[in-house]
Amino acid sequence: MLHGRRIVLGVTGGIAAYKAIEVCRRLVDLGAHVTPVLTEAALNMVGPTTFTALASEPVKTSLWRDSHHIPHTRMGQTADAILVCPATARIISDLRTGRSADLLSATLLATTAPVVICPAMHTEMWEHPATQENLGVLARRGVIIVPPEEGRLAGGDIGKGRLADPATVVQAMVELFATGPLSGRSVLVTAGGTREPIDPVRYIGNRSSGKQGHAIAEVALAQGAKVTLVTTVELGASPAIDRVQVETAAEMRDAVLGRAATHDIVIMAAAVADFRPLAVADEKIKKTEGVPEVLLERTDDILAALGQAKRPGQVLVGFAAETSNVREYATDKLARKGADLIVANDVSAPGVGFAHDTNAVTIIGVDGSVVEVALSDKSDVARAVLNAAATRLPDNESQSS
Ligand code: CTP
Repeated sequence: MLHGRRIVLGVTGGIAAYKAIEVCRRLVDLGAHVTPVLTEAALNMVGPTTFTALASEPVKTSLWRDSHHIPHTRMGQTADAILVCPATARIISDLRTGRSADLLSATLLATTAPVVICPAMHTEMWEHPATQENLGVLARRGVIIVPPEEGRLAGGDIGKGRLADPATVVQAMVELFATGPLSGRSVLVTAGGTREPIDPVRYIGNRSSGKQGHAIAEVALAQGAKVTLVTTVELGASPAIDRVQVETAAEMRDAVLGRAATHDIVIMAAAVADFRPLAVADEKIKKTEGVPEVLLERTDDILAALGQAKRPGQVLVGFAAETSNVREYATDKLARKGADLIVANDVSAPGVGFAHDTNAVTIIGVDGSVVEVALSDKSDVARAVLNAAATRLPDNESQSS
């Protein structure tokens, strides 16, 4: 995904410098060639050995102690991008004024490559007019700013200024180089089956493996999208995917409804429980107490809630795992849930659905369109689903068939 991209990772002296280690690792995992440059102040926060071990080159810290006599121009000229993470108020100010005070600020001056900065500082410093003015100037110059989040800051204060999550930072870098058909788009996918606890040991679950949802997330990422994956399973996912781990239908509902509005395409591939135990026993239910009666209640229908809250231009995709009358039930679900597309499969057919690496689906559109995808790899099915969704995005409608 970032294969062969040369990224200079500038680390400045904020407490959040430790999170740059995770960013470094994820960039390397995605195939980037990462050159870490640590400022004097960063060296007070994190050890260079860790970066040297994880990055593609040893850490650089000084204009004077490098084997190359002008390291800043060499790095500035050869970088495909420079990422400053975390970016303190000091480096932001240096970059705005063009001050060359150390190896990192000199490299930033000596480059024409895209620059991405991830500010992290105390709320007061973030809100200070000087910082905001500096950031405004940098944004107008084309510097990409990954804004800080609200949260706990050094010293226990709470407020805006916490470094963006490493996944968000890495996503910004992936987006920078994305060229696929979904570049500039965001996709939220759910995967796996929910588990509804009966007691601390037992739960009501289903056979969903999460493979189809994970395949959709990976293909969307490869096609250039910014991807959020809300999953119940332990399957791996690319480090550039914003992964949210959940277990129950209620957790999935909160995770999805809280994020859906900011996504262009929302795909409910998860098998969400329709019922959950009315009460969860605090202690393991003992068989000496006889056969328990587990009363159930309905869970909220997440897809239907998404259908009601759908913003104009957003594309909503549901799944329908059926064992008979596939098209009829799927068409009914389209109308009932307010989705644009339903991906229906007959899970009783050989090689289809749960736990298999293959799937065969019918993609039915609210406009009456029908696409049959014969038994294929789940990645191919993912491609067909994403194509069907992408052609319904407002700017792409002219390409739809
Ligand atoms: N779904 C959901 N929330 C639920 C149940 C299902 O969002 N509580 C979503 C699934 O993720 C899937 C779609 O709805 O995208 C279809 O799920 P399904 O269980 O097949 O549909 P139901 O409406 O529950 O219909 P039925 O069980 O009667 O077939």
